[in-house]
Amino acid sequence: MKYYFAPLQGYTDSTFREIHAKHYSGVDAYYTPFCRVEKGDVRWHDRKDLQPERNSLLREQNRLVPQIIANTAEEVDVLVNRLIEMDYHRIDVNFGCPFPMIAKKQKGAGILSSPDMVENVLSALKKYDSFEFSVKMRLGMNEENEWEALIPLLNASNLKQITLHARIGKEQYKGEVHYEAFANFMKQCEIPLVFNGDIVDLPSYLSVCEKYPSINGVMIGRGLLQNPFLIEEIVSGSVVPTNEKVKRLKSFMSDLTDGYGNVMNGGELQLVQKLTSFWEYLLPELDHRSRKKILKSRKLSDYQSNVEEALRKYKMDME
Ligand SMILES: Cc1cc2nc3c(=O)[nH]c(=O)nc-3n(C[C@H](O)[C@H](O)[C@H](O)COP(=O)(O)O)c2cc1C
Repeated sequence: MKYYFAPLQGYTDSTFREIHAKHYSGVDAYYTPFCRVEKGDVRWHDRKDLQPERNSLLREQNRLVPQIIANTAEEVDVLVNRLIEMDYHRIDVNFGCPFPMIAKKQKGAGILSSPDMVENVLSALKKYDSFEFSVKMRLGMNEENEWEALIPLLNASNLKQITLHARIGKEQYKGEVHYEAFANFMKQCEIPLVFNGDIVDLPSYLSVCEKYPSINGVMIGRGLLQNPFLIEEIVSGSVVPTNEKVKRLKSFMSDLTDGYGNVMNGGELQLVQKLTSFWEYLLPELDHRSRKKILKSRKLSDYQSNVEEALRKYKMDME
């Protein structure tokens, strides 16, 4: 079984990925948030995040998969050529982003209603035979069965893996995952398949394994923002004790503070806003007041003491 850290735009940038990889074990690969073409070239912000010097640990360990978003062969060429220049060898293609700004341009999940466009993108990948390509997709944009028209194209492609988030685009990230639809997709999919969606703890992981014993792996997003230890816990089969969790979380948080402090230059408030954003997800068991206090921090020293206090309370509550 392979374990993947899902791409999460706004959260899993190079600073976060490298620091997570330093602190936690068990992740087979980290997928980057999607990079896109803007004015004929790869968006500068995306290119910066992929720079080799910002990704040294994961590149050295061959555990980084850049993700692209495109709906034409021309865009694929621009993106892939930039990644060749940066000496990447694996690429994931985003057929799943549900955000209206993207989907209405028939990109991300928006491409799923247009088999012709999917075919163009998949054909464009075929010329790059030194790459390992994968796709991350949903069941469809508007209907649960849109994938049925795409499966022959996917099976005939050079993809090495498909990750399926078994929702449709218009559901965004809410509602039940369509477990039965995942099983139907799996029956027809001839490419190694990875499950994605709502794995947040050991029981939800085990339930996925029981439902789909033949999957190649699982990809986890929000569950890892909530509990950065989750893949370690899944691999070891046991929950990390609270004492150890708090100690290691402090060290992780301290490295994130230093890491973002080094790469951000928009002042203290911008840094604090970046750091507090992780607390939208982190430790769902944390009491409401402690979380609110952290989220309201405006100064770095307040943020740090609010985190310290919250973790003290968390430790007491959990023990
Ligand atoms: C804030 C946010 C940003 C995301 N950004 C991306 C992205 O850049 N590329 C992508 O393929 N999926 C993206 N996703 C989807 C996740 O990778 C994942 O498929 C989804 O959250 C379901 O998995 P989970 O329940 O384990 O989080 C994003 C999701 C969220 C909530």
